[in-house]
Amino acid sequence: RVEDGVRVFDLTMQEGRSDLGRGPDTPTWGINGAHLAPTLRAARGERVRVRVTNRLGEASTLHWHGMHVPARMDGGPHQMIDPGDTWTPDWRIDQPAASLWYHPHPHGQTARHVYRGLAGMFLIDDDAESALDLPRDYGIDDLPMIVQDRKFHGDGTLDASTSLFQSEGIIGDTVLVNGTPGPYVDVTTRTVRLRLLNGSNTRPYHFEFDDHREFAVIGTDGGLLPAPVSVRSLPLSPGERAEVVVAFRPGERVRLQSTPTPGGSRFAGGDDHLEIAEFRAAHHLGGVATVPDRLVAVPPIPEAAATVTRSFALGGTSINGKAMDMARIDEVITAGATEIWTVANSGDGVHNFHIHDVRFQVLDIDGGAPPPHLRGWKDTVWVPRDSTLRLIMRFGHHTDTEVPYMFHCHLLRHEDEGMMGQFLVV
Ligand code: C2O
Ligand code: CU
Ligand code: CU
Repeated sequence: RVEDGVRVFDLTMQEGRSDLGRGPDTPTWGINGAHLAPTLRAARGERVRVRVTNRLGEASTLHWHGMHVPARMDGGPHQMIDPGDTWTPDWRIDQPAASLWYHPHPHGQTARHVYRGLAGMFLIDDDAESALDLPRDYGIDDLPMIVQDRKFHGDGTLDASTSLFQSEGIIGDTVLVNGTPGPYVDVTTRTVRLRLLNGSNTRPYHFEFDDHREFAVIGTDGGLLPAPVSVRSLPLSPGERAEVVVAFRPGERVRLQSTPTPGGSRFAGGDDHLEIAEFRAAHHLGGVATVPDRLVAVPPIPEAAATVTRSFALGGTSINGKAMDMARIDEVITAGATEIWTVANSGDGVHNFHIHDVRFQVLDIDGGAPPPHLRGWKDTVWVPRDSTLRLIMRFGHHTDTEVPYMFHCHLLRHEDEGMMGQFLVV
């Protein structure tokens, strides 16, 4: 709905019951429904306002993951919404077309709130993207896919337990796509665009089709790539997104799976083989079978432009030996500055790294060039064991001397246990 030139979304966080494949009575949480949340969509340059009402029995927040927003509108742990209250952030969309998402971020409770079903996608459109010949008929040849693993108790309720030896958090044996177990898609066009979101608490996926067919990665977390990258498999850690285009032949059936991480993940569940979704192509397919060879300009941020370098060591459940403290500011950044952040995993666990408000580029991984599908805009990145990544980013101009943004591991249990820090942009 557009009111006085502002795109307005009304969201209500609520409790409900859903059929997640174990009968209709699984207690879940959702937004404007019993489970998950509506896809929000706005165009670059538009002003948006979201009215978020909390009808849960406890306080929560709603964070716009990947969005460039003023810190007070970010929906992090400092913007708690008490039961019965409404929080109304507004901002102007000022970033390229991308597939973002939104989820709660209450300190220490994020894993529980997301696991119960609070997550949705937030799509941004712009002129550069709409000028390209890409599938964009939402729900027909442009499909959001929120991929999440869940475990259930015998009575159909969600099982959030973790074993004693599993420090990463919950690993489920049932994969849900947009809340549906074992889904299939009726394909009616030659190419289909999938907006893949790893919305799981812990589990990384290694996406691959059952016939190992090639598909094109066209976008990463923060926008389209300069050119499509052809791959046969694609890893995504929790919080990461990718847009891919897959071509289908008339009448065929193909399954998207998650296959064991090559070389071994040294991670609970990393050797699992999981079915994600089946694609059933019609006998007559519409549309074109090609993907444009060039997409959008992604000018590399020159290393020489960086004026500050910061280091972040991920270990145990802390960053640089410090556990998250809501009252402590860890980093103070000058608005508009270009910085290099060196992120190292000392090797005692599996982690990734997410930064609020900015989009970054991966300069290198252990000194080597990142793979082509990581050469676009990112906001979340896997940090393999015993490895060091250098990220480069340019901070924006939303300043606030009091309210910070977060950076953290997006394995939600690690985030809740304190693997998170706070930065101000001033
Ligand atoms: Cu997806 Cu700090 O969050
Ligand atoms: Cu975020
Ligand atoms: Cu971690």
